[in-house]
Amino acid sequence: MCGIVGYIGAKEKKEILLDGLQELEYRGYDSAGIAIIENNKLKYFKAVGKLQNLRDKTKDYTSSGFGVSIGHTRWATHGKPTELNAHPHLGKFSFVVHNGIIENYQNIKDELQKEGVRFISQTDTETIVHLFEHYYAKSNDSFDSFEKSISKLDGAYATLLISEASPDTIFFAKNGSPMLIGFDGDDIYFASSDTPIIGKAKEVYYLEDGEYGYAKDGEVKLFDKDGEKSFTTKPLATDKAMAQKDGYRFFMEKEIYEQSSVMSDTMIGRVLDDRVEFEELDESFFDGIENIKICACGTSYHSALTGAYLLERVAKIPCQVEIASEFRYKEPLLRDNTLFITISQSGETADTLEALKMAKRAGLKSLSICNVDNSSIVRESDRAILTRAGIEKGVASTKAFATQTMVLWMLTLYIAQRENSITKEILAQELDAMRHTPKALKVTEKLHNKLTRLSKRYLHGHGFFFIGRDIFFPLALEGALKLKEISYLHAEGYPSGEMKHGPIALADSELFTIALMPKSLHYEKIKSNVEELSARDATILAISPEPFELADDFVQTQYSSHPMLEFFEMMVVTQLLSLEVSVRLGNDVDMPRNLAKSVTVE
Ligand code: G6P
Repeated sequence: MCGIVGYIGAKEKKEILLDGLQELEYRGYDSAGIAIIENNKLKYFKAVGKLQNLRDKTKDYTSSGFGVSIGHTRWATHGKPTELNAHPHLGKFSFVVHNGIIENYQNIKDELQKEGVRFISQTDTETIVHLFEHYYAKSNDSFDSFEKSISKLDGAYATLLISEASPDTIFFAKNGSPMLIGFDGDDIYFASSDTPIIGKAKEVYYLEDGEYGYAKDGEVKLFDKDGEKSFTTKPLATDKAMAQKDGYRFFMEKEIYEQSSVMSDTMIGRVLDDRVEFEELDESFFDGIENIKICACGTSYHSALTGAYLLERVAKIPCQVEIASEFRYKEPLLRDNTLFITISQSGETADTLEALKMAKRAGLKSLSICNVDNSSIVRESDRAILTRAGIEKGVASTKAFATQTMVLWMLTLYIAQRENSITKEILAQELDAMRHTPKALKVTEKLHNKLTRLSKRYLHGHGFFFIGRDIFFPLALEGALKLKEISYLHAEGYPSGEMKHGPIALADSELFTIALMPKSLHYEKIKSNVEELSARDATILAISPEPFELADDFVQTQYSSHPMLEFFEMMVVTQLLSLEVSVRLGNDVDMPRNLAKSVTVE
């Protein structure tokens, strides 16, 4: 995801910016840029791809005197990863970098364009710098112009602005996206997380939402809606590895918490007011397609299974899902009216890649849903939709699964629109539910504490059954996989209606059943399945909005009209449960034994 670094002082600015951006590399990005004002002159450099490209471009440039500087790594959301779309964005005499999403950017852009302002990028960010210069032309007052500009912005942002109009000042604002200010004597640093300034700044102030201001002459002036305010800095951490985790104990934990904001990235520019769009696809891509086959491994296979329910039910297109390693040797019958979809977080999984090659040899059209651009699977596919989850470090996949599932849901609606297999009313309801997903994914302290407490009762026994129906069956499979991966306890995911055909023989008080009991989908059916297990003394942990009196433990979720919202909320519960069980067992949460993040061998 995008990263910001800023510095004001007399040190070599290029190195501070580039080193700082390097520290943010692990978040993922596809272009980068820096802008510096020194001796009243603006200088900027941008490059697509890795930071090394930017280093190469700036190798003959040094900045030795006092100046102000900002830098950015961009992970494309509005507009493709091109140099024009890379930050910093230029007005006539100012530069801006920004993380987040300006939701009302189109309105602002339209107004400014009417006044003759020319935009050169497709980004929402560029509106900030033009807005600033628009106000400056009237008032000749930089701070007033900055204040007016940010008061016009709706949405999430962390932004830095520099201008030849005030060549000794960095303006900053934060709302919804992280930003902090580092201090070391007269040197002032800005960054979107601690890592770029560790070892440089000694004290830090973490900006709160709604705060903005400016840095000048070794001082920071801070404001919010009530005017100027004072603030207290605290010592900056010195451990970089800890800082990369944004204060969480594990990458997996951070990634679970991140899901809510990451999901907005997955949807941006795709979930529109009245329809779903993919700039990666054109309608003719689906010409002649009457069937879909999805191939994947591990967690990605579980998102595929979820997607198949949605594709058949909502888009009314037949869909089969295959485990890639099985698909390869089963001599499958492949017909050219089939769209072959591969799903992969890494884009490098050998079995999935080989399955894709087989499908291509058979003449099928291919589409990949992947988190890593330019990976082998993306390159090999006719089309690719990126999940935009950002780099996932925990071996046990969390946010990759959430975003893959979201892309499949979006794809379902995209196909349904195209095939006219959905009414306007239902489409509107689906889109509305999608927009509520980030909220359903929010982790509350209360929920996390509850799962930490509950986890102590689930460290033994002779096995776990995660059970659910319909889309909650693949979620049960995924819940069981998470627990297996990081706790090393035996867990299975099962369709709850199938328990009576065998596994119920295992039921006793040492058999732990994690029952996914959504209220919006087949509640009564799954309830009777769980009652059957309870009658045989199985220990039941029920996850449901509806209190369930036979449950030994109960985690209450929200009532919701759409099953997918219940799906995502329950997904978070199962992820946190696995995490806390693993922590109590003293396991390596981020790097569980015997597992690899990306399996590039058969
Ligand atoms: C490995 C990982 C799993 C992952 C699977 C598929 O086994 O440990 O977490 O689900 O590979 O990976 P992919 O990158 O293709 O989604």
